[in-house]
Amino acid sequence: MRSPSHIPKFDSFLHGGFIKPSSILVTGSCGTGKTNLCMESLFNAAKQGEKCAYVSMLSESTNKIIRTLSSFSFYDEINIMEKLSIYSISSDVMAKGDFAIFEYLNENILKNKPSRVVIDTINVLEDIESTFDERPFYKCELRAFVQNLLQEFDEQNILLMVTCETNASDMYSSLWPYMFDTVIQLGIENDGQTPHRYMEIIKEKGSDFDMGKHKFSITDDGIVF
Ligand SMILES: Nc1ncnc2c1ncn2[C@@H]1O[C@H](COP(=O)(O)OP(=O)(O)OP(=O)(O)O)[C@@H](O)[C@H]1O
Ligand SMILES: [Mg+2]
Repeated sequence: MRSPSHIPKFDSFLHGGFIKPSSILVTGSCGTGKTNLCMESLFNAAKQGEKCAYVSMLSESTNKIIRTLSSFSFYDEINIMEKLSIYSISSDVMAKGDFAIFEYLNENILKNKPSRVVIDTINVLEDIESTFDERPFYKCELRAFVQNLLQEFDEQNILLMVTCETNASDMYSSLWPYMFDTVIQLGIENDGQTPHRYMEIIKEKGSDFDMGKHKFSITDDGIVF
């Protein structure tokens, strides 16, 4: 089943929208538009009646998350209360490690049976140092932890978008891209004198897509290709 991105022109690049359920990694360096892209998709899906959840792993206050977005025309306060829930995982929960994070996601997000979820950003999981039984948490366990997490979302038929901060040059050596069904890279590059933003679909499991870099700008109306 396909589910719209709710971002103009994006669905045609994806040859019909996102596959649901699936996991989408939105990767790029700092300030490339990862959060904006995910939020625009989430807000517009919520406006169409889809049950949505945004999960910040950065322990930011929900007020700050909302404030940053309120300048966009897709922002709609009423919708936030009706169909879009915003969660911020506290640094205490993050510090308790893998089991506490899994439990938080289960009890706060999965229990409410959302249709579309954004997790922003997955890099924070790389900082987990200990497990719930207070022994060191190893890199190979991180992979298994995230795989279990992705499977849980998949089994609940959720469209999951996850942001990840990587530079274009080290994207292929990163732990994350191969674990996801779809990988979308955002970047900024110089075209002669003028820098511009681009979006490139790196892979989309089970579908063809438009290859190459698609230029976009971020405006008050959101992402414009
Ligand atoms: N209304 C707007 N009009 C134009 N550009 C905007 C607007 N609002 C935000 N931006 C741009 O969006 C950029 C930030 O986008 P976003 O927060 O989605 O990036 P990010 O990839 O999530 O960054 P980070 O890695 O820091 O989380 C800012 O640098 C800003 O230039
Ligand atoms: Mg961000």
